[in-house]
Amino acid sequence: MNSPDRNQLRQHIRTQRRALDPHLQEQHAQNLASLLVQQPIFRNSKRVACYLAEDGEIDPGYIVEKAWQYKKDVYLPVLPPTGKSLFFAPFSADTQLTPNRFGIAEPRVHPRHWLRARQLNLILMPLVAFDISGNRLGMGGGFYDRSLAFTTHRKQWHSPHLIGLAHELQKVDSLPCESWDVPLNMIATESNIYKIK
Ligand SMILES: Nc1ncnc2c1ncn2[C@@H]1O[C@H](COP(=O)(O)OP(=O)(O)O)[C@@H](O)[C@H]1O
Ligand SMILES: [Mg+2]
Repeated sequence: MNSPDRNQLRQHIRTQRRALDPHLQEQHAQNLASLLVQQPIFRNSKRVACYLAEDGEIDPGYIVEKAWQYKKDVYLPVLPPTGKSLFFAPFSADTQLTPNRFGIAEPRVHPRHWLRARQLNLILMPLVAFDISGNRLGMGGGFYDRSLAFTTHRKQWHSPHLIGLAHELQKVDSLPCESWDVPLNMIATESNIYKIK
């Protein structure tokens, strides 16, 4: 279950995130992209999952453009009709999108082309709040946690590398986290790259 603390924090930060003016949103998206695409982990990743921005989330659109320029394979999360674990569908400039059961756009791509998280090199994921220890608070569905639960059983973490993308205003001092929360390797914002030890 989700504690009232976590839910309150979600509401608070989501409201602030949605209130960012469009001009600032645009600037954040550009700054984020110029910081992130210099990172060796981005350069070296061939299969990169990303997301389409919603609800005031920082927009990874420029990162996707760069990834396509560098001939990377880009994926977006898809929810199968049943089950609570994410798959990842290929996303190119001409991919048609269709709303899933939560009304979120996802690629209209046959399931035989979908990948599991473990087949990706890098996952750029949205979040509601983060701290500099790499803890992540999502929207409350636990979808990324469930899809990445396998990573916590490994002594050495190779692929996929997990990077949270956020506005700086989503940073909190310390996040109340739960046993199932999967930590991030890095968080990138419009002004900082936080590498987690
Ligand atoms: N590996 C897992 N297996 C089963 N249920 C999970 C797993 N990870 C998360 N959940 C469930 O998902 C719910 C939401 O997780 P939470 O971490 O609060 O959301 P979010 O990560 O989106 O902020 C939790 O109540 C938890 O029971
Ligand atoms: Mg979680």
